[in-house]
Amino acid sequence: MLDLDDTTITTAVLDAIADTADPRLREIMSAVVRHAHDLVREVGLREEEWAAAVDFLTRTGQLCSPRRQEFILLSDVLGITMLVDALQNRRTFGGSENSVLGPFFREDRPEFASGADLAPDRSGIRLQVRGQVVNHRGVPVAGARVDVWHSDADGHYDSDIPGIEGSAMRGLLVTDVDGVFTFRSVAPGAYPIPGDGTVGELMRGLERPLMRPAHIHVRIVADGFAPVTTMLFRDDDPHLDADPVFGTKKSLLARFVPTVDDEGEFERVEHRFVLEPVTTDSGEGDGRR
Ligand code: BEZ
Ligand code: FE
Repeated sequence: MLDLDDTTITTAVLDAIADTADPRLREIMSAVVRHAHDLVREVGLREEEWAAAVDFLTRTGQLCSPRRQEFILLSDVLGITMLVDALQNRRTFGGSENSVLGPFFREDRPEFASGADLAPDRSGIRLQVRGQVVNHRGVPVAGARVDVWHSDADGHYDSDIPGIEGSAMRGLLVTDVDGVFTFRSVAPGAYPIPGDGTVGELMRGLERPLMRPAHIHVRIVADGFAPVTTMLFRDDDPHLDADPVFGTKKSLLARFVPTVDDEGEFERVEHRFVLEPVTTDSGEGDGRR
């Protein structure tokens, strides 16, 4: 018969799962138990605090739907999304780094020819983006499929803007023989992560900011290469130092260069994306969630 106290219960739980046939499940669940029990001991967790945590997680689950994933947002603000990516998707040949996918990616986006305007009806500073996709030796990658999506100047994605039929500020482009893709749009603005759920509650409790720096999401898929799910961040954005989802990286900063041509003023962004070949030991993971 078990007769446990606080000094013996951790070992008892570990013993109970020691014979799990699946070695990875055993490894992960043993670590979960050890770390969770240590946490309870370290902070001297009280019953009412554990009840509050269970209530928090219950409400987080209740907020999840096909349109909203509060648990992924929780993973993002705790830095777990970016930690998992950093460990699984190390770049060994100088490849472009990943960032978080975020909740606004959509599979049902239109495909555009290079140079297309993805936001002809949106107001704001006009934007021209030129990207080049190369391999780790600098050779252009033709035929790469490049998804781009971003917010408008006020920080709203198309799905949150009343009156937009279909999509805006998003699309699928394919690189040409020089590995180049270009598109026009409006310059994105900074915006807050959703603050009306349990994650917002937690962030307010922790006195953490919700604002993400202005960015353009880019996802690149090409045969034989590890996919890249990343973003270009406006390099003069004041929120760069406190991204609530820890997605910023120096290598992903982009200058939005003020430019004038016959059609007027616009901002120009150029960036070179480097793809690494798929290797057997790192797998084909891309940090997508
Ligand atoms: C985004 O950049 O779209 C995003 C990423 C993580 C959480 C919320 C939004
Ligand atoms: Fe975003």
